[in-house]
Amino acid sequence: MTDKKITTGILLEMKGKGEKITMLTAYDHIMGSQLDECGIDIILVGDSVGNVVLGYENTIPVTMDEMIHHSKAVTRGVKRAMVIGDMPFMSYQASEEEAVRNAGRFLKESLVEAVKLEGGSEVSSTVKRIVGSGIPVMGHLGLTPQSVHKFGGYGVRGGAQEEARKLIKDAKGLEEAGAFSIVLEKVPADLAAKITGELSIPTIGIGAGVHCDGQVLVTHDMLGLFEKFKPKFSKRYAELAKTMKDSYRKYIEEVKSKEFPAKEHSY
Ligand code: KIV
Repeated sequence: MTDKKITTGILLEMKGKGEKITMLTAYDHIMGSQLDECGIDIILVGDSVGNVVLGYENTIPVTMDEMIHHSKAVTRGVKRAMVIGDMPFMSYQASEEEAVRNAGRFLKESLVEAVKLEGGSEVSSTVKRIVGSGIPVMGHLGLTPQSVHKFGGYGVRGGAQEEARKLIKDAKGLEEAGAFSIVLEKVPADLAAKITGELSIPTIGIGAGVHCDGQVLVTHDMLGLFEKFKPKFSKRYAELAKTMKDSYRKYIEEVKSKEFPAKEHSY
């Protein structure tokens, strides 16, 4: 693992060397600084903040102001990792000018180093404009949660032949538009491997098999902190919700029984 500051160039080198890229989400200062300390390569301030922190049903209500607020907290704690701000629904779809302005807000106000946005051919000229203004862009293909109402759910994408062909074309189009990397979400592993082999920029998989150049998970899922549902592609590395609730119950019990505070907690 390099201890150099992660840049788009370093990520390209990692792909070249076959060194896997690690990415997780963060929404606050403590999580961002812990991830950085542990050596994560990329921290995404994901619009998944809507689901796992803000209590929305999906990512659609998330606003630019909410994303900037959370991104500011994360970047204050990070030195080595690349921090990416996730462009929320309707911050880049209405016009290219608005997309460039909102991407710029992310860098100027919250000091992230790149932005991510969802979609293929529909957004490739927008990606080109944002990259043209000096802002690195990560693409996001496959399951694109901001289009949940268009697709009618969160199913696997690229299973049918025509859909698979579009995904490959979209990935190449994003690369041509100047994206430095692409997230592939819930894409069959063989198709993700093919896309990864055909691109010179790194792919980051989530539910897209082991052959992507890197992997990303939503941190609240992998910590077992978000309990509402557990995606098949996510692995739980801890059961934090249980640990936290056990602690709350113990505290309540000890205050009621006057076991806390004890002598050592008193002046
Ligand atoms: O918002 C998010 O957390 C994401 C990841 C799932 C890639 O887009």
